Amino acid sequence: MVTLHLDKSEKSIDTAAQIIKDGGIVAVPTETVYGLAANALDPSAVRKIFSAKGRPQDNPLIVHVSSVEEIPALVENVDERMYLLAEKFWPGPLTVIQKKSSLIPSEVCAGLDTVAIRLPSNPVMRDVIRKSSVPIAAPSANSSGKPSPTTAEHVITDLDGKIDAVIDGGECDYGVESTVITLATPVPMLLRPGAVTAEELKEVLGRIEISHAVFEKLDSGEKPLSPGMKYKHYSPNTSVTIVKGSFEKYRKFILSQGDDVCAVCFKGEGAYFKKSVEYGEEDDSLSQCHGFFDAMRKVDEMTCGNAYVRCPNWEGAGLAVYNRLLRSAAFKIIDLDYNIGIIGLTGPIGSGKSTVSSYLAGKGYYVIDADILARRAVENSEIIEKIRLEFGDDVFENNVLSRSLLAKKAFSSEENTKKLNCITHPEITRLTFLQIHKAQDNGFDVCVIDAALMPDWGLRYICDKIICVDAPESIRIERVMKRDNLSLENTMSRINRQRKSEDYRKCSDYTVENFDENISKKTVERIIEYERKNRNSVS
Ligand code: TXA
Ligand code: MG
Repeated sequence: MVTLHLDKSEKSIDTAAQIIKDGGIVAVPTETVYGLAANALDPSAVRKIFSAKGRPQDNPLIVHVSSVEEIPALVENVDERMYLLAEKFWPGPLTVIQKKSSLIPSEVCAGLDTVAIRLPSNPVMRDVIRKSSVPIAAPSANSSGKPSPTTAEHVITDLDGKIDAVIDGGECDYGVESTVITLATPVPMLLRPGAVTAEELKEVLGRIEISHAVFEKLDSGEKPLSPGMKYKHYSPNTSVTIVKGSFEKYRKFILSQGDDVCAVCFKGEGAYFKKSVEYGEEDDSLSQCHGFFDAMRKVDEMTCGNAYVRCPNWEGAGLAVYNRLLRSAAFKIIDLDYNIGIIGLTGPIGSGKSTVSSYLAGKGYYVIDADILARRAVENSEIIEKIRLEFGDDVFENNVLSRSLLAKKAFSSEENTKKLNCITHPEITRLTFLQIHKAQDNGFDVCVIDAALMPDWGLRYICDKIICVDAPESIRIERVMKRDNLSLENTMSRINRQRKSEDYRKCSDYTVENFDENISKKTVERIIEYERKNRNSVS
């Protein structure tokens, strides 16, 4: 199919309206995002929307009208509260759900007994509705799962050749989809936050509830009030993680993550980073709404392994941005705001670091084992799927990821190692911060991170102090041979493959020479207690 690229002249709008009357589908600008419009009363036209977008059949569409007089025919009984909302917010970025009339085909509402209605303010969209003289079903004009389109170029990227026409009306004013509220629940419920805020709705409706799906991942099997909430949404191809905390903490964090990351941050902050995309001013939620989806698309153009997004304030219209961001990031959050001491523990193979670490755990210290987190990271289903995409089915045995096959393939070349790290690092990092917060929530004022790879660990800087456990090479060789039942040759080749003692010592604040484990254990404990007292007396 050839997609007509139209401007917003009257002639173009006439063409678009005729296409819609004839059962075609046209992407049209609205004040929120671009919509993919069809005659809502024509089931076969509506089906074309689903197939062009690749949209799941059970996700209902919003019906757009150009005046409130069109609404009584579309609903069972007009809920009077709708008029109150209309007076305050229409035309504009609000969608209201009520019981539907029999006029609405089941394709539009995906079999539900309700219909979502919106009266948009964008003059092009209003003219299209008026001139086609039918109610218009229109979801956002993106491929299902991708960020919503806020320019005609975004629409063309996703849907060129799959739709009859697109009208270029420039950038959308708001940039996030409409607020969705249902009047079909006992208490009106906000299903999707947008530029019309929860506070503004409360002023008109009195009490409203906010669906928990606005903030949280749905439980598996849970039936959402708004089916759209259960799908993966707004995702660039690049993996996205939300980062909470001040700009100063964010900046240090990003700089610790190497070159292959993109910082998605607020205006004026991007210059601090090698690769960055900005999305609005820090204290202006509406500007963040405006820039957010475009930023999510730009992230893919930066060709980087991972994107870390500065977390917006979620008051007022900020809730709309935060809600979309949560879905772009598949709910992955790193929270840099904590107040607990962190002691790093490291040491070369055979130094006895692990014995010290077990001793500390036995004494009641909160010990975070980076090795365990690295193993846990490859148990996460999103990570497993990424590994399958990158390394293929041959690192799986009976459909289960084989850690040994993966290690073999991933460590066969520097490039493959880099690819695996790029997949697993953000998850290991996320799990590390979750553990730090868990320690704090459980009342600990200090925790220990046991990380054999400390010299190469980007997050090293989060440790207040690092303790290295070391021993002369002859002792280490003896320990490894005995512990792992290895020949001298094999032991030496293992030791030689890893970093040298000096590297561990250099990145540490203390080195404990471990000749006698009973003494070293207690020495490390004493250092931790000393640092802990120091820290508590300062803060
Ligand atoms: O701003 C907007 O609302 C844009 C522009 C084009 O108007 N449209 C839009 O449509 O965002 P869409 O399809 O991308 O999102 C509609 C949302 C989905 O989450 C859907 O599940 C929900 O509204 N929805 C539609 N009808 C519903 C109903 N009867 N009950 C519950 N949720 C409904
Ligand atoms: Mg959508």
